[in-house]
Amino acid sequence: MINPMSLEGKSIIITGAASGIGKECAELCYSLGANLLLLDLNKEGLLAVKDSLNGGNGTVVIRDIDLADLDSIKSVLSDAKSELGCSYNGLVHCAGIPSVLPLRALSNEQFERVMRINTEAGLVLAKCFSSNSGHDTGRQASIVFISSVYGVVGSAANVAYATSKAAIIGMTKSLAIELVKKNIRVNCVAPGFIQTKMANGISSMFDNDYSEKIEEMHPLGWGEAIDIANAIAFLLSDASKWTTGAVFNVDGGFTAQ
Ligand SMILES: NC(=O)c1ccc[n+]([C@@H]2O[C@H](COP(=O)([O-])OP(=O)(O)OC[C@H]3O[C@@H](n4cnc5c(N)ncnc54)[C@H](O)[C@@H]3O)[C@@H](O)[C@H]2O)c1
Repeated sequence: MINPMSLEGKSIIITGAASGIGKECAELCYSLGANLLLLDLNKEGLLAVKDSLNGGNGTVVIRDIDLADLDSIKSVLSDAKSELGCSYNGLVHCAGIPSVLPLRALSNEQFERVMRINTEAGLVLAKCFSSNSGHDTGRQASIVFISSVYGVVGSAANVAYATSKAAIIGMTKSLAIELVKKNIRVNCVAPGFIQTKMANGISSMFDNDYSEKIEEMHPLGWGEAIDIANAIAFLLSDASKWTTGAVFNVDGGFTAQ
């Protein structure tokens, strides 16, 4: 039976792969047949994810990297490509950090760090990926960024994070137009709240009602990392070959209200 979401023979870079959405994405892409380059700050987490992969037979390479060090990205991608033994067909930038701070408490350094990891690292990854030595020029390639509902609608005490995620939407649309001549599609997913380390960390800063309030904000309730991974896998696969520049809201109805 043909699986339109198959990633057989594709080599995919996933950042933030040690936890949450990136981890789920790695597990799904592997089971759909992909070779993987998994990147994260957390080396032990990467090793655990690599050990847990099943249902596929692709090659898996891991690299611990601090994506805030933008200058290190190019060499990590090219070294890992030699180990993987083939060019890349997909890139997913899942690594990200939250920032729950009102404007009065937000320092320039904190703002710059959020922008650097959430947004600028994605841009540098896309630049390396789309360079002559990056993607497989013989096949359509796909870049997927992760925005957020807070890149689409506003919320208090969230300006740095929201700016980084809104910028991803602008980046997605402009790169989609620019990279079409290189046969690269560029899309982003804008998730609602998903119970991961990041979301649980934010929940723990608030009172016990917070989780209930979040649930009420989503007509379909809390989401799971697999809901986002499924959308990412679709955007990486040939099933989405006519989709570029799209913002895919996967948010349980949050932004439909
Ligand atoms: N969880 C949610 O509710 C939610 C909602 C909307 C968007 N998102 C976005 O989804 C993405 C994944 O979030 P998650 O909830 O899975 O978070 P998570 O905290 O579970 O995972 C994030 C991963 O990124 C890695 N990371 C952080 N900084 C890094 C750096 N400098 N270099 C390399 N790796 C780094 C972490 O080590 C971690 O493994 C993020 O971009 C986040 O903004 C999450």
